[in-house]
Amino acid sequence: MKRPMCCAILGALLVAGAQCRPLRAETGYEAWLRYAPLSVDESQKYDSLPATAVLLRDTPVLESAQTELIRGVRGMLGRTLRAEKTLGGEPAIVLGTLDDLHAAFPELRAPAGLAKDGFWLTTAKTRGVDCLVVTAETDRGVLYGVFTLLSRIARSESIATLDEVQQPAAPLRWVDEWDNLDGSIERGYAGRSIFFENGAVRSDLARASDYARLLASVGINGCAVNNVNADPRALGDGFIPQLARIAGAFRPWGVRLALSVDLSSPKTVGGLDTFDPLDPRVVEWWKQKVDEIYAQIPDFGGFVVKADSEGRAGPSSYGRTPADAANAIAGALQPHGGFLFYRAFVYDHHLDWTNLKNDRARAAYDIFHPLDGKFDDNVILQIKYGPIDFQVREPVSPLLGGLQKTNEAIELQITQEYTGQQRHLCFLAPMWKESLDFDLHANGSSSLLRDLISGKTFHRPAGGYAGVANVGLDANWLGHPLAMANLFAFGRLAWNPELSAAAITEEWTRLTFGNDPQVVEAIDAMQLSSWRTYEDYTGPLGAGTLTNILGPHYGPGVESSERNGWGQWHRGDQDGIGMDRSVSTGTGYVCQYSPLVAKPYESVSTTPDELLLFFHHVPYMHVLHSGKTVIQYIYDSHYEGAERAAENVPRWQSLKGLIDDERYAAVLARLEYQAGHAIVWRDAVCNWFFRVSGIPDAKGRVGHYPGRVEAEAMQLQGYIPVDVDPPEDASGGKAVICPEPLQFCEASYRFTGAAGWYEVDVEYFDLPKGQSKFRVLVGDQEVDEWTADAQLPGMKLSADSSIRRRIPGLALRPGDEIRIQGIPDTDERSPLDYLEIKGSR
Ligand code: GCU
Repeated sequence: MKRPMCCAILGALLVAGAQCRPLRAETGYEAWLRYAPLSVDESQKYDSLPATAVLLRDTPVLESAQTELIRGVRGMLGRTLRAEKTLGGEPAIVLGTLDDLHAAFPELRAPAGLAKDGFWLTTAKTRGVDCLVVTAETDRGVLYGVFTLLSRIARSESIATLDEVQQPAAPLRWVDEWDNLDGSIERGYAGRSIFFENGAVRSDLARASDYARLLASVGINGCAVNNVNADPRALGDGFIPQLARIAGAFRPWGVRLALSVDLSSPKTVGGLDTFDPLDPRVVEWWKQKVDEIYAQIPDFGGFVVKADSEGRAGPSSYGRTPADAANAIAGALQPHGGFLFYRAFVYDHHLDWTNLKNDRARAAYDIFHPLDGKFDDNVILQIKYGPIDFQVREPVSPLLGGLQKTNEAIELQITQEYTGQQRHLCFLAPMWKESLDFDLHANGSSSLLRDLISGKTFHRPAGGYAGVANVGLDANWLGHPLAMANLFAFGRLAWNPELSAAAITEEWTRLTFGNDPQVVEAIDAMQLSSWRTYEDYTGPLGAGTLTNILGPHYGPGVESSERNGWGQWHRGDQDGIGMDRSVSTGTGYVCQYSPLVAKPYESVSTTPDELLLFFHHVPYMHVLHSGKTVIQYIYDSHYEGAERAAENVPRWQSLKGLIDDERYAAVLARLEYQAGHAIVWRDAVCNWFFRVSGIPDAKGRVGHYPGRVEAEAMQLQGYIPVDVDPPEDASGGKAVICPEPLQFCEASYRFTGAAGWYEVDVEYFDLPKGQSKFRVLVGDQEVDEWTADAQLPGMKLSADSSIRRRIPGLALRPGDEIRIQGIPDTDERSPLDYLEIKGSR
């Protein structure tokens, strides 16, 4: 892209990064639908765009299409299209289904096989007038066509010769929101629910409507609004009219409302003495309930069911199968065109960890594979991409390749439960792509996962994608301004899984931050490397995320996976690590794959390094294909990952002035936090492995931290040392806190290095409840002060609550006394971990 001349001249005169046009402040609320004004050069491309938008029929979805078109063109090109209902004698952008267009353009024939929701962008002539036509079989398709046209303009692409057909890869493209009726969100990291508050649907649903618009813009056509751990009250008296209001907010955007339901509902809210799915009274109850819903929500999408899982009620209570349960409800939905997504996330969370043959990864296949062909045609098995639970790396779930007579949908997690909870940057499209492009060789012949879930491979009538999104009331929907790329990528992949992660990222960045090549290049590079970076400083070689699975699933917690029934075991001990899932010596999980897939996984020597510890237990000195030992790989990857996380900070800073200050500052704050927390991860994981294996880091880094001064080794006044449990969660296993009674505390250290400029990091703990204060002084001069008021998930002193404050550019001389003062409050005792002093320029 060429820069306008004014920029070229000004660029020479002004400091690097200066702008021609002031950048408007943005919160991120508009996400990728900003419709920001194009530059003069860019907008010239669209000079011949017709001035009229003709809508041939009024329906809520078609009206949205016309309104959106006018809104987008006005925002980007500064022109307000005239809205018309009939074609006049002048060029127009014509919106309508093929049926609508028939009279005006009798020769217009849909390209062969235009699927429901697909669209066609083309040019056509009528009465001697050139028109740009956005058409489809359905209203929804027209809306999707308009969004695509606007996206083209926003990315400054030519629309001069349009003749483009797009079809969705799969019919069902849904998001799930794990919102509770009280307004909290399970695994939500961006504020409270946009749908519920205090046990009811919110009175103001403007956010719900804006959310549906965002979803529609990437082709998502269904949204289940409540937690899969469903509150039965969602089907209780008086709630359906409230849900109908959400459906009303979604409808103009072609998004069907869906609901998670609890299988015990016939008993808990229906007053029956059973919820046995084969009991005729239960079947009748579901029928009545479903009829009641459709009477109020005619376009209702259907239900999502989590049963017999993590304590949820299920058909096993009556000796029935998931197919019995699913079909009992699906039968009620079928006459109305509704779907039942039955989740395959079913496993025993009280497994005996001492039995080396037990394996949670086997559960979904063991339970559901024998039921293949037993589910009704409007049932979709919703299967997580991996056999465990949204880990940073897992092999593709074998169940996805094991069903030929059952519809299936892949469940992906947009909300970053195990991948940094939107405090860390972790763009998941590259991971999703690896799964979608994976060949499961189902039935012995080549079958990519993406073709299995679309229903293509085995000619299934339904199938698709379910993404757990969990947006919240935070202005920018997902917390981290760059995390919205995950929602965007989910939609784009559900529409077209053949897109590359790089192509999706580029689209998203241009739409979200504009077309400046420097901005696009930097953000794309950060996004595309972020999953691998996160994996490197968290979970190595397929061992799982190594997070604290008994806590918030956030910071490191290597030990937490072991010696409990949850089955997220990595089996790390003093001799080695990894789960033996081979057929010959292990749990036999490998045989759930078709033979071509299973073969390389069966043997240590042919399993890819990145999944080695998922499939095999090996000694720490085992040599990987890369030539490194497992233990050295663990050390190296954690150091390299943390370094790469830190590099994102200056990379982002190079964009100052090219991005509005608000979003610039919001991203910078998160990247700085991530850089610090990646070190917490690095140190905790490396120290755990060093302690357990006793094998030192060949590069001498683990346990040796140049410039680090432990708080407990400083001169303490008021502060007392405390043990942190597990010890890896704090440097040296200890922190210092201000004890009772509340008093001012100080930890000081006499600097012994050479005179010069330094960067000083203060590692401390920030608990959600308290708000203690810190001051840093050199001698008597205050050099920094802050309040510990970040909202982190750690409820105690732990890696979850550990956070860094960086004081850059500090002049120090030998003999200087660095003093950290803590002003505690009742709930937070100004806890300190260490000080790290590093030379800077
Ligand atoms: C994870 C998550 C739970 C969730 C469950 C599910 O285990 O931590 O909060 O309920 O997945 O997918 O059902």
